[in-house]
Amino acid sequence: IINRENVKDMKEEADIGIAGLAVIGANLALNFESKGYTVALYNRTAERLDDFMEGPGKGTKIHTTGSIPEFLGFLKRPRKILVAIRAGRAVDDFINTIRPHLEPGDIIMDAGNSYFKDTMRRMDDLLKDGIRFVGLGVSGGEEGALHGPSIMAGCSERAWEHVKDMLTDISAKVGPDQEPCCAWLGAGGAGHFVKMIHNGIEYADMQMIAEVYAFMRDILRMSPDEMSDVFANWSKGGELSSYLITITSEILKKKDPVTGKYLVDVILDSAGQKGTGKWTSEAAFDLGVAAPTIAEAVFARIISSLKDERMEAYAQLPGVETERRTDRSAFLSKLRNTLIASKICAYAQGFALITAASKEFGWKLDPARIAEIWRGGCIIRASFLDEIVNAYRADPKLENILLAPYFKNRIGIANNDWREVLAKAICNGVAVPATSSTLAYYDSYRTARLPANVIQALRDYFGAHMFERVDKPRGEFFHAQWSDSGMKITSADFNV
Ligand code: 6PG
Repeated sequence: IINRENVKDMKEEADIGIAGLAVIGANLALNFESKGYTVALYNRTAERLDDFMEGPGKGTKIHTTGSIPEFLGFLKRPRKILVAIRAGRAVDDFINTIRPHLEPGDIIMDAGNSYFKDTMRRMDDLLKDGIRFVGLGVSGGEEGALHGPSIMAGCSERAWEHVKDMLTDISAKVGPDQEPCCAWLGAGGAGHFVKMIHNGIEYADMQMIAEVYAFMRDILRMSPDEMSDVFANWSKGGELSSYLITITSEILKKKDPVTGKYLVDVILDSAGQKGTGKWTSEAAFDLGVAAPTIAEAVFARIISSLKDERMEAYAQLPGVETERRTDRSAFLSKLRNTLIASKICAYAQGFALITAASKEFGWKLDPARIAEIWRGGCIIRASFLDEIVNAYRADPKLENILLAPYFKNRIGIANNDWREVLAKAICNGVAVPATSSTLAYYDSYRTARLPANVIQALRDYFGAHMFERVDKPRGEFFHAQWSDSGMKITSADFNV
């Protein structure tokens, strides 16, 4: 094909090599090329390269290469190789394939949704040969890859110096000053960790949108195009203005060309997932951070996928009669407030995870910077992120965004509507797991005296796990003689 001929005469010409020609790799290649970079492409199956050059790559100066030695031989030193292949074993396999051909100083960038601990392992391992590895969180889907994604990098600062300019050039730009949505976030797995949190928040955002849709459909009895108008309105300005709300509005009005029905009505209610939401929830447990909304969003997808079992349950389990009459216009503004309050809580959980991981892994993550680079290019881009930037700029040590003045005030405004909407959903048997978990999270967080004293008493009763007392300093532990047969121990014998 066209450019492969040139390859033999053009040694060490390419600024970047891209491996993997699924849609993200292809679009990143086009993006780099459009910014004036010389790109070499490699894919395991050559037909795909040919199809690409006859399709979207036609007329570009992108060079396709047919073998690993040819691909790597074509790259300027130190070589910069961007891997755009599906996370998991395939990434290790590809690294192992190219490793013998690499030399110290070369840089591999993994642009997939790799698990951050895999990234840390790969980085340490490659460093033994002096090869530098960049865990590159890239968000924005197909369109973002082509026109400007949000880029979250984790690597050594020295490696970053080599790739910073080119990645900044292809990233999304936001605001009047066209600020790039691209940043080095820290060493090791920092970039992929932050991308994972982005996806965890994406799961929560999408589930909460789906729950609002369920409320509109099942309680307010709205048609998809009526809902579409409401989402369109919400997307125009204010706190909910965001990519996901905008595309929800577009989705709801789309008709199925086959049946003529609304497409949303013919899509099976069984959600898929590739693991980043689950990893975020696992990280929450590992780090001891409460992120119930993200976890509920994962569980909601799991329950949705049990379609046959659910149909069995539908036939058998008692529910409630759904009310027929509800004041639609009053509820729409309450729903908006519900979504805003819930969104604040979901982001609070995501950012709490970032803060905890930063301490745990010594990454020195800057939450304000992360919120900044999420304002453009990525799936969760939203005007709301400006307020998170402001909150962390005003107080870089902020423990939870709920404590920032803007969010405190905003939840105060939404407070009653949030509760009313949830009560209505619950009384009508409409499942709202993510949204209701946000309120439980909020109420738990702001409650002075939780019932955990009972948990402690129970633990002490059956297992002598001991408890602290309200009238003694923290860290002093006590055991009660709950019954005559109980053990006689003190805090000196036993630690929690
Ligand atoms: C992005 C997206 C992207 C992908 C999700 C989908 O930021 O561009 O998050 O990474 O669409 O990983 O994940 P699920 O298949 O798990 O929903």
